[in-house]
Amino acid sequence: MLLYLVSHAFSRSALMEFIPLIQETIGVFRDRLDGFCSSQGAFFDALPWFNYLAFDILSDLAFGERIGMLEKGSDVVTIQRPDNTLVEENAISLVDEREHFAAVLGLVHPVLQNIATRMPFLAGQKATSALEELARQHVLKRLESGTRRDDILGKLILARGFDQREPGEEEVRELTAEAVTLLIAGSDTTSNSLAVILHLICTHPGVYEKLLAMLFEVCDGDSYERAKDVPYLQATINEALRIHSITAIGLHRSAPPGGLVVEGRYFEEGTKLSVPAWTTNHDSILWGDPENFRPERWLEDGNLKQYLLAFGKGPRACIGQNLALIEITSIVSMMLLRYKIEVRDSRLETTEGFMHKPVEFSIRLEFR
Ligand code: HEM
Repeated sequence: MLLYLVSHAFSRSALMEFIPLIQETIGVFRDRLDGFCSSQGAFFDALPWFNYLAFDILSDLAFGERIGMLEKGSDVVTIQRPDNTLVEENAISLVDEREHFAAVLGLVHPVLQNIATRMPFLAGQKATSALEELARQHVLKRLESGTRRDDILGKLILARGFDQREPGEEEVRELTAEAVTLLIAGSDTTSNSLAVILHLICTHPGVYEKLLAMLFEVCDGDSYERAKDVPYLQATINEALRIHSITAIGLHRSAPPGGLVVEGRYFEEGTKLSVPAWTTNHDSILWGDPENFRPERWLEDGNLKQYLLAFGKGPRACIGQNLALIEITSIVSMMLLRYKIEVRDSRLETTEGFMHKPVEFSIRLEFR
């Protein structure tokens, strides 16, 4: 049910309606980055700012309003507990905590998984509840206001007919679960991918110069409309997502009733199988020279997309990939066109858990 209704909110026409909202938030991000240009060219960690940006874009679409991290320059949010007390939490840490919890749970026996999900005092469970409470207060505010707005929450409200009748408690819970799933799935995947893509571009001068020349040729401002039609930019994004897949492990699938034969090998029903994204994206049979960051390969061979495992594959592939690509195209082109970007470290330090994330992304900006 959840995915059926949510997928409707990610149709091509729906995504087009979201673009002005996304651009507005990118405008706030741009103003904050402008501030770093005037701070005597000091290096700063751009990663938290990508996190604020991705959170603000996603909360604007899925909660119906921006959490406002960019304006505050902080991820601290006020959450109203069920007993009406107010607490301050770091929302990005909550997502990290929840992700870590999910990664550990994924490795243990299903019986232990069941037990762990019934223990509200575990840090991962507390983080999940806090994020749900945060989503719930925004969803309720929107339902009570009766505001109509072309965002993801608006599409879900219309699809459920909540513009015509009041939802029951269980339905509010479901709506909240949808909003929070999207926030979790779509925020730090996008922000970490942004850091990886820009790091790869900036540490490969040949790609940087070529991409910049092509963007300047067609773009007169911070225009997504023009940037999306620059094939070398799309090739660069694909190549960066291939060489550094944020979701490096492949989420598992269960072998169907009757079992499954893969490459001549039989797996009995219920066997958990997964295709590791990092390994596939670095397979020399598929890519020839997989360790080289070479966007040109995507223009030389139009069939490569079928092998890219950045967003998963099949009916349970990432529902937000087109939204993510709109965000990434807009942000990367805006930053390259507006600033000279210098990265401090040629090697991007990363940490591996459920995701393969950069630890920081230290850059210096100067106006062009
Ligand atoms: C660069 C950014 C992103 C990356 C790398 C990414 C990657 C992924 C991957 C690898 C999966 C698992 C797919 C599979 O198992 O086959 C997934 C699932 C999912 N993603 Fe994304 N994602 C990104 C952005 C987003 C955004 C922006 C949203 C929503 C606003 C989103 C929503 C989801 C949802 C709801 C699922 C679960 C789909 C299901 O279970 O059927 N993702 N994503």
